[in-house]
Amino acid sequence: PVGLSQAAKAAGKLYFGSATDNYHLTDGPYISILSDQLQFNQITPGNSMKWDATEPRRGVFNFAGGDEIVAFARKSNQLVRGHTCVWHSQLAPWVTQGNFDNSTLQQIVKDHTTAVVSHWKGQMYAWDVVNEIFNEDGTFRQSVFLDTIGPSYVEVAFRAAREADPSAKLYLNDYNIDGLGAKSTGVVNLVRSLKSSNVPIDGIGLQAHLIVGSLPPNIQENLEQFTNLGVEVAITELDIRMTLPVTPEKLEQQRKDYASVIGACNAVKGCVGVTIWDFTDKYSWIPSVFAGEGVALPWDENLERKPAYDGIIQGF
Ligand code: XIL
Repeated sequence: PVGLSQAAKAAGKLYFGSATDNYHLTDGPYISILSDQLQFNQITPGNSMKWDATEPRRGVFNFAGGDEIVAFARKSNQLVRGHTCVWHSQLAPWVTQGNFDNSTLQQIVKDHTTAVVSHWKGQMYAWDVVNEIFNEDGTFRQSVFLDTIGPSYVEVAFRAAREADPSAKLYLNDYNIDGLGAKSTGVVNLVRSLKSSNVPIDGIGLQAHLIVGSLPPNIQENLEQFTNLGVEVAITELDIRMTLPVTPEKLEQQRKDYASVIGACNAVKGCVGVTIWDFTDKYSWIPSVFAGEGVALPWDENLERKPAYDGIIQGF
C-alpha cells in the first residue's frame, strides 16, 4: 500500500505531515512510523514553539524543544511548519500579567516574533504567525493583544515575521474556518484588508478539528474563496473525533469523513498540504480536552492502521 505523503505527492500536493511532541521521540515503534518519508514529509511541533515554551520570561528564550524537532525533521527529510508566534493560549503569564501599555506590548510582540522566526531562519516551510484570533461570529477574539493594541497587533506580527525570515510562508491559522460561515467570512475580510495594506500574508491554515458524521458544509467552496484572495491554504491540524465507545460503523463513517476532507484539499490547486494533529490515538490531544470523545486519528493506540488511513489514501 502506498504511504500518505506518497499519495499526497502523487496528487500534486507538497506534503502530508503530522504534529509531534518532544516526549514522543523516545518511543521507538512510534518513531519508525513518524520518520518514514513515504508516510510523512512534514512535521509540526505540537507544543515546543509556543510562547510559554520559547519565551517563558521577557527576553529569555528557550529553543531546545523546537530545535530537537527541527533536527528530527531534517534527518528524516521533512518540511517543518512553525507553530505559533502569537496566540492567546499557552502564552507566557508575564505577557498577560505585565499590564504593558500599547507601545510596550507592540514591542514585545515584535521582539518575540523576530526572535523565534529568526532562530529557525531558512529552516521552515511556513509559520502560523497568528493563531485563533477570531470569534465564531467573525469578529476579533478578546485577548491581551486585542485589548491593549487593537487589531493592528496582527500586522505587527506579520511584518516582524517577514523581516526575520523572508523564505517562510506566513500563515493565519484558526479552527471552525473549515467550511463556509461567519468565521470564515471574517477571515476573508481580514486577509483582504491586510493585503490592501501590503501586510505580508501568504496563507490561511484550517485547523480542521472535526467530528465524525458532522463535517462542516462546503469545505471545497471555502478553500476556493480563500485561494481566490491570492493566498495558499493548508489543512494544519486535522483530526476527526467521535463519541466513545468506538464501533465499526463509526470507524467506517470516519473513513468517509477523512476521504471527504482530503478530497476537498485535493480538488483545490492552492491547497498545498495536509497535517494531522499527531497520527496515533496514543498521543491525541482529544481525550484530555473533549471528555468522552477520542480515537480521532488514522492509527489506533497500538499503532495499527484504522479505516481512516484508507480514507486518506482514497481522498487523494
Ligand atoms: C494542543 C496540543 O496538542 C496539546 O498537547 C496542548 O495541551 C494544547 O494544545 N489548536 C492549536 C494547537 O492550534 O496548538 C492545539 O494543540 C490544539 C488546538
